[in-house]
Amino acid sequence: MLEYLPEQSPDGILQLMQQLRADPRPHTVDLGVGVYRDASGNTPVMRAVRQAQERLNSTETTKTYTALEGDSAFLSAMQTLVLDDERGAHIAAIATPGGTGAVRLGFDLVRMAWPDARVFHTDPTWANHLSILAYLGMEAVPFRYFDAASHGIDMDGMLQDLAQLREGDVVLLHGCCHNPTGADLNATGWQALIRAINAAGAVPMIDLAYLGLGDGIDADAAGLRAVCAACPEVLIAVSCSKNFGLYRERVGALLVQAPDARAQRLAQGAMTHLNRQTYSFPPDHGARLAQMVLDDPALCRDWQDELAEMRGQITALRGALAAALRARSNSDRFDFITAHRGMFSMIGASPAQVTQLREDHGIYMTRDARINIAGLGVDDVPHLARAMLDVGL
Ligand code: LMR
Repeated sequence: MLEYLPEQSPDGILQLMQQLRADPRPHTVDLGVGVYRDASGNTPVMRAVRQAQERLNSTETTKTYTALEGDSAFLSAMQTLVLDDERGAHIAAIATPGGTGAVRLGFDLVRMAWPDARVFHTDPTWANHLSILAYLGMEAVPFRYFDAASHGIDMDGMLQDLAQLREGDVVLLHGCCHNPTGADLNATGWQALIRAINAAGAVPMIDLAYLGLGDGIDADAAGLRAVCAACPEVLIAVSCSKNFGLYRERVGALLVQAPDARAQRLAQGAMTHLNRQTYSFPPDHGARLAQMVLDDPALCRDWQDELAEMRGQITALRGALAAALRARSNSDRFDFITAHRGMFSMIGASPAQVTQLREDHGIYMTRDARINIAGLGVDDVPHLARAMLDVGL
């Protein structure tokens, strides 16, 4: 039977990681997968997470199962972190393996509730969003978002495309630090989006994978919180991979805002069922570390401080790269890099230029010319700036 399996095309981001590992050149620059690196090139275990881990090691008395929906203390810590509101909203929640687990089960939930729902997504979006939707056989509809000329948002195009929304369609958004472009909506943009969604009776679904890596936790969550205040139903896929540095532990949660207690109960039942059907109990170790950090005031403060250091480094690297490009090109055409937020920026290189950057300069980025600023070493900034101009950017 196995010979009937279809050949799978490799995931672009993961293929790039393999290609880089096989590159024999002594100096390469990895701007591929979205992983933060500190000044010495390491992806550290965050201080507060390490402390929580030590505490857990010495106090944990059992590895028996948690609840099917995940540990309730973790879920309420996630809810407080993301929503921080006193509205008494009706929230259903499950723990998931990473943010991707939450995205996948969020789509599953939509399909279960409204089989004909189309999923409108920013053009471009994270490649795996599209891959999961295709796998589930759900219709994906791109809407204009990124304006390649200004490297900002195409507001008019976005609103024109969202005029096609129908009741029950889902609008998949990035809470902050848009992946892959780096271009985020401002408060006015979020409000216009909310009006378009509510006018159609559509449902927003927000992928929140980079909270705290843009302008800070509250600033990064502001758009999402405005959506929750204005829309009756909202799905939120939360990841703790990047902001807690818990990548391989697979820590995530799906939070669903329901309009009333009955819808909340139905959503909670369906979500718990989806956990059971997919992998039974969600993993708990990393979730517990995140919860311990969030619930302990001293650890939480230290985590927020370290997150601010990471964010500061990303902002400084953005500034350094834009300055190096300004000096070398004698123009301000790369200043958009400082306006972008989070780990990524799309630099506008063609696929041929991306190949040339890799082959001639040892600089690795995804085919869509997304660079991971958080993976850039400060010493590599002049090399990157020189190479970008060398390939004709
Ligand atoms: C990325 O976009 O690089 C990250 O979200 C990692 C991944 O799983 O693709």
